[in-house]
Amino acid sequence: MPELRQVPLLVIVDPATSHRDQIVRALINFYRVNYYADTDSALRGIRTRTPDLIIIDDLAPPQGGYELVRQIRRDQNPDIADMPIIITSKLEESALQHAVRKCDANAYLVKPYRYSALMHAVTTQLSLHVEAQWDLLPPKERAALRGTLDVFQSLSEIMETGTRIDYAGMRTACEPLVDVIAASDFRALLNGVKSHDNYTYAHSLKVATMLCLFGSAIGLNHNEQLLLACGGLLHDTGKMLIPHAVLNKPGRLDAGEWEVMRSHVPVTLDFLQASLTIPKAAIIIAGQHHEKLDGSGYPKGLKGKEINELARMAAIVDIFSALTDRRVYKPGMPVSEALAMMTGPMAAHLDQHLLRLFKELVLDTTGGEIL
Ligand SMILES: [Fe+2]
Ligand SMILES: [Fe+2]
Repeated sequence: MPELRQVPLLVIVDPATSHRDQIVRALINFYRVNYYADTDSALRGIRTRTPDLIIIDDLAPPQGGYELVRQIRRDQNPDIADMPIIITSKLEESALQHAVRKCDANAYLVKPYRYSALMHAVTTQLSLHVEAQWDLLPPKERAALRGTLDVFQSLSEIMETGTRIDYAGMRTACEPLVDVIAASDFRALLNGVKSHDNYTYAHSLKVATMLCLFGSAIGLNHNEQLLLACGGLLHDTGKMLIPHAVLNKPGRLDAGEWEVMRSHVPVTLDFLQASLTIPKAAIIIAGQHHEKLDGSGYPKGLKGKEINELARMAAIVDIFSALTDRRVYKPGMPVSEALAMMTGPMAAHLDQHLLRLFKELVLDTTGGEIL
């Protein structure tokens, strides 16, 4: 199943069973994990099946973690030589920093470290690796991805520091995205974030892209499409405050976790409303994208005409994106299957007139294949 291949493979090299088990336990819900106790078997394993990231303890025998990093960097296979590497060590931070720089590893964790520090380091390194490949894209596509990622990262800083969004800057950053869609070449954008490890960014970019495409198909002008792109990028901002373990939990959420998940809507609204320059349309998209036509949605349980048309479009795109996205616990659903689900079991939730237009558009542009 090629889709499952996209779940990143991580390799842990650590002689201390208890530390190794702890890391494996932390990561196994989100990634595929292989582990080795020594550098020789690790190198053989890495050469047999190329991982996406390696976590190496500096004391791994017999050669030591730093020597293993050097061997990896000298490997003939560029996929292996360029691999993201995180070092774990009990060394004091400044000494560790120096050693890591010298052997050309990408990041380090000083033991003992927190679960959140481990997850942050892994996600950051996997994402940086994906972002580096954007350099190979044509300028407009590259600008669209870099611009939206910059906006997204600044949103998380703004949320932490309580400053305000620069909406004018955000519009400018989203211009290349609208241009790429006008040239009807959006597949490169979706492919570019497929393996990105920040799921909320990848999902928001996908929603922004599809929403803008939807807008262009129903005849909205450039400025209106720009508004949809910004609205799509902002619609789940509140998810940045949801803990990784809930946001990426494989399987069903319990009642408490579900409550936390749903809170992303009011959190997003508070955040957007505090930024006085955010257009009303973007606030409507964020506030109503989980409402359902039959009144079974949240946060307000709005029904039928109470739900704004823009939010109905956003709900269609949001669900389509969630179904077709690959997650750790499920492969991405093929486009035709997702559309069948939306016109079948989910029909009472969604505006069927808009859905017909969306379906035509998606089948035209993707041929019904996996996105
Ligand atoms: Fe949402
Ligand atoms: Fe969403």
